[in-house]
This record gives sequence, C-alpha cells and structure tokens, in this order.
Amino acid sequence: MRTSPRAERPLEHLAAWLNLAPLPVVQVFHGMGAARVVMAGVQLGLFERLADGAKTSAELARPDALEEHAVELILRALEEQGVVRADDVGRFTLRPRAAKWLSPRSPDYVGDFLAFNQAQWDWWGQLHAATKKSAPAFDLHQWAPDDVRWVRYVKAMHQLARFCADEVAAKVRVPQGARRLLDVAGSHGAFSVALRRRHPALSATILELPGAAQVASRLFAADGLTWVEGDALAQPLPACDVALCFQLTGHLDDAQRRTLFTALFAALANGGRVAVLDHYTPDTGRSDGSALVALNYFLVSRTPRLRVGQVREELGAAGFVHLRTHRVLRSLGQTLLVATKPG
Ligand SMILES: C[S@@+](CC[C@H](N)C(=O)[O-])C[C@H]1O[C@@H](n2cnc3c(N)ncnc32)[C@H](O)[C@@H]1O
Repeated sequence: MRTSPRAERPLEHLAAWLNLAPLPVVQVFHGMGAARVVMAGVQLGLFERLADGAKTSAELARPDALEEHAVELILRALEEQGVVRADDVGRFTLRPRAAKWLSPRSPDYVGDFLAFNQAQWDWWGQLHAATKKSAPAFDLHQWAPDDVRWVRYVKAMHQLARFCADEVAAKVRVPQGARRLLDVAGSHGAFSVALRRRHPALSATILELPGAAQVASRLFAADGLTWVEGDALAQPLPACDVALCFQLTGHLDDAQRRTLFTALFAALANGGRVAVLDHYTPDTGRSDGSALVALNYFLVSRTPRLRVGQVREELGAAGFVHLRTHRVLRSLGQTLLVATKPG
C-alpha cells in the first residue's frame, strides 16, 4: 500500500515547515502541474473510464493509442493528490470523494467547468501583460454568437449553479402574486428553474447575449423559461415582479453597474424584488479567499475588486430599500444581496 508523501518523507516536510525549502517552487511548479493533471484526466476521458471500475495504465492507454508510461505518470500524480488510488498490482480506481465531482455519471460532475478552464488557462498565462495600463480586456463576452466557446462557458456556469441554486432560491423572498421573473445574464437558467420549483406561478425571461442565449435555449430548454437575446446595458429591461442578476456585476465598471441598477429599478413593479449575486470583497478589506476570483474578473473584464458595501450603496442609490445580505454556502464564496423596490 502507498503512503502519503508526508509519511514517506518526514524530514523533507519538516524542512519545508521550517521554510528551508523554496516554497515558490511548490506554488508554481507543483501548482501548475496539479491543475493540469486533473484537466488532462477530464480531457483524456480517464475519469470516465475509471468510473466503470479499476484499470491499469495499459488498459487506459489502449483505446486512444496513448503512451502507457505518460498515462501511468499522470495517474501517479493524481494518486499523490488523492484523486485516484492504486492497488498492489497497479490497478487504479477513482477515490469516492473525487468520483463525486469527476465521474461523468455523478450528478455533481464538474468536468465541463474544468474543461472551460482551458480558456481561463490562456488568460492567466497573460496575467503579467494584462497589468499594463494600455492592455485590452480579454474577449470573453465579445465572442461571436456562433463561437463554439459559448458551449463550454454556458455548460461550465450551469455545473456550478446546480450546487447553490436551491439555497439561493430559498433566500430570495418572492412578493405575493408575483408572476414575471426576469433573469438578467441568466445563461443556463438554473436559478430561474430553482425559483420556479418554489413558485410555480412564475414564468421566467432570461435576457442574455446572443451566443449564450442560443446555446442555453438549445441545451437547457424547460417549461416556463424563455430566452431573449439582448444587451442588458443597452435597452430598457422587460417589466417584472422579481429580477435576478447573478455574476454579471463583477464584469461591469461603476457607470455600467449604475445603468444596470437604474434599469432594474425601472423594470420592477412596485414592491418587486431584486437579487444580485457575485464574488464581492468583504468591507473589512481583509483577505477572505476572494482575491484570485477578483483577479480573474480583472483579467476578463478589467474591473477592480468590488466591495459588498459598495454594491449595497449603489442599490440604495438606485432607490432600492430593505437590503439584505446573505452568504451562500455552496457557491464558493459568493454573496447574495436582496432588495425591494418601495411600493
Ligand atoms: C459568469 S456568467 C453568469 C451566468 C449565470 N447568471 C450564473 O450566475 O451562473 C455571466 C453571464 O453574463 C452574460 N452577460 C455579460 N454581459 C452581458 C450583457 N451586457 N447583457 C446580458 N448578458 C450579459 C454572459 O453572456 C454570461 O452568460
């Protein structure tokens, strides 16, 4: 049986703990490799095949004529990360904790999100250049409507939304008699679906850029959902009783957010409710694990860190009242803000 690297090499671990070994090498070299072997496992279909049962690297290599020793090396790296387990005769299995996320048969599969990280990888590779004042934003939301990358993007967002959609829906109090739900930048529509489960009288309009609307309406069509193509910043928004705006504000600059909140206020009926969800920085300014997500927003949209208090103030300035702030446990550090249009 294999033991953990810590148990195999206690003296090296003590040296690392005493800061005698170069930590930046671990952060960069091991961090990069750790990400890429998991991504390779998805791309090569290794996790899918391991989900069928234990296999050797030779068995995994055969169908796609892969180099057996390369597959073995990937699997050994995955073993060190606790993703797979090897038995004494070199057969690998997916560990149950990893299978929950990596087996395509699992309802919690996140392989599409990991595949989308091919695009993110390229953006992060340009981080140093992106810090230059004159550098352009990456083109995430400017892709042509028929760009195939929309498929990965929409599927990736859907996979993450599944974990918190019901929790979020439970925290958005829907006004009595509400019928019209507007999901601004709602992509896949999973949050609208969750809200409709609790409030079947709602019908949802999902306002999206054409590329996302076309992919999502094909992949995630469901009763009570209608996709409308458009730019949320360039038009009056459809009239509604409840409005969602999830993971868009972080891509917008101050003026764009003001435009959006004003348009949401105008679109909502009196007494209507708006819910905004995103990765915001706490008002204390202290680190809470959101710095890398904020940097990701900067890379793709050139926007600065956004404090939760700033968004609360902006919603108040647009006219909203009764602001409530909720943490969302299953969304990896997002904050939900819910507010009401007086009426
Ligand atoms: C990070 S995704 C969030 C998707 C979904 N709301 C969620 O939380 O899972 C951001 C979405 O905003 C959409 N978007 C960006 N700019 C937009 C705009 N100006 N008008 C409408 N949608 C926009 C993108 O197409 C993308 O689907």
